[in-house]
Amino acid sequence: MTVRALSVASEAVPLIKTGGLGDVAGALPAALAPHDVAVTTLLPGYPSVLRALPGAKAVHKWAGLLGSPARLLAHDELLILDAPGLFDREGSPYTDNAGHDWPDNWRRFAAFGRAAADIAGGAVKGREFDLLHAHDWQAGMAPAYLRFAPRKAAKQPVPSVMTIHNIAFQGHYPAHTFPALGLPAAAWAVDGVEYHGGVGFLKAGLESAWAVTTVSPTYAREIGTPEFGMGLDGLIASRGETVTGIVNGIDTAEWDPGADPQLAANYTVRTLARRSANKRALEAEFGLDPGDGPLFVVISRLTWQKGMDVLLEAIEHLVWLGGRLALLGAGDAALEAGFHAIAARHPGRIGVRTGYDEVLAHRMQAGGDAILVPSRFEPCGLTQLYALRYGCVPVVARTGGLADTVIDANLAALSSGVATGILFGGANPQTLKDALDRTVALWSRPADWRTVQRAGMKQDFSWGRSGAAYAALYRRLIASAAG
Ligand code: ADP
Ligand code: GLC
Repeated sequence: MTVRALSVASEAVPLIKTGGLGDVAGALPAALAPHDVAVTTLLPGYPSVLRALPGAKAVHKWAGLLGSPARLLAHDELLILDAPGLFDREGSPYTDNAGHDWPDNWRRFAAFGRAAADIAGGAVKGREFDLLHAHDWQAGMAPAYLRFAPRKAAKQPVPSVMTIHNIAFQGHYPAHTFPALGLPAAAWAVDGVEYHGGVGFLKAGLESAWAVTTVSPTYAREIGTPEFGMGLDGLIASRGETVTGIVNGIDTAEWDPGADPQLAANYTVRTLARRSANKRALEAEFGLDPGDGPLFVVISRLTWQKGMDVLLEAIEHLVWLGGRLALLGAGDAALEAGFHAIAARHPGRIGVRTGYDEVLAHRMQAGGDAILVPSRFEPCGLTQLYALRYGCVPVVARTGGLADTVIDANLAALSSGVATGILFGGANPQTLKDALDRTVALWSRPADWRTVQRAGMKQDFSWGRSGAAYAALYRRLIASAAG
């Protein structure tokens, strides 16, 4: 029997994306379709989303969704929460143009969760659902509203899954927001939505969902420890076996070096030599000296999580080793300034582009020799997966999904041909410098380098296995709801 799942996410490609969550939520419908799961995605009606879907039809209305009038629009397998008072504003989904969180984020995403729970609970005629799947704190209230909603005795409960893409973002708001949420008083409890004297949106989802997943097995273990749990480790640990890790897949049609229309030259694992045209193009694009030395790339949010301050401290070493760096990123103003300053000191060796540029990201994966991902924590990480597919060797910190998807080029792995990149422990300037030394040493042995590149390109990170894992989880929960 076809499973009808409502996926609730604050971003989904191609409509709106600020990071990997957008990639994953956008990919889920196609990932699950082969497993007889029909996924409908609920998104907030940001201006860009509404502009992209002029033909969407209204299928439901709320006179007041936490006080705001709202409509539900439908466009194929997309549902859009059109609540102008909450979402019709320019800026990012979460911040104004100056980068400050919208002060009413609690109301915006509580309303989003409330709408999701109503829809999953059967409020919209002709659109019934067997399960709700919430992503990150912005959707965290959805499982809580479902759990605390009044339900007719005869009606089967709707199971819910909460997926953590990043436990660092929790949606934690003051206690005075609670009365406005429209939840019963019983929800104000340690095993409800209460969190350190306030309301925790992610916490509410973790307490209320029938199952919790995150985006790699290593991160699933890490978040049960104080070092990575960001205060939620106790709760994660208490949920025990119900917390599992499912590694993200990638869209292998969108990211295919053999057919990518953005590249100077297409290539495959058998025609790697053609890759050099992309390297030349990338050097030109970033104003770097042309050359045969290793060209490193970084495509990242510029934040502490991503270890970008660590990279800044190791960059002179990279240049000293004969490397060059092309960096594309946006984020903390101080880091952006730091990268521009160091690029000015090393013209021809370091090129920096701040901003968000999807096309350039593709060209960098195709033209770079190695990608640096020195994250302090990384739930899954997608850039290393794209890199593997593009023959851009990942040099990554051994944490979360990075540890689960890259095989270190130690002697044993190299000689057996399974190595796909370089891993280093605990991102700090020294471990990163050591990793750069190892990378350059590997680069100086072209046959070994090629072996690592090829092994990476042959890895399968398509959605096959992960789609099957989500589908199996959904079916298990639905069976338990019936039983
Ligand atoms: P996170 O979601 O934590 O930022 P991921 O590695 O999961 O990290 O996903 C990041 C996604 O955003 C990837 O698709 C990556 O290519 C993309 N990305 C990050 N920064 C930029 C940028 N400045 N320009 C274009 N794409 C970017
Ligand atoms: C988050 C994580 C990243 C992960 C992405 C998609 O943004 O930081 O590691 O790949 O979500 O799951």
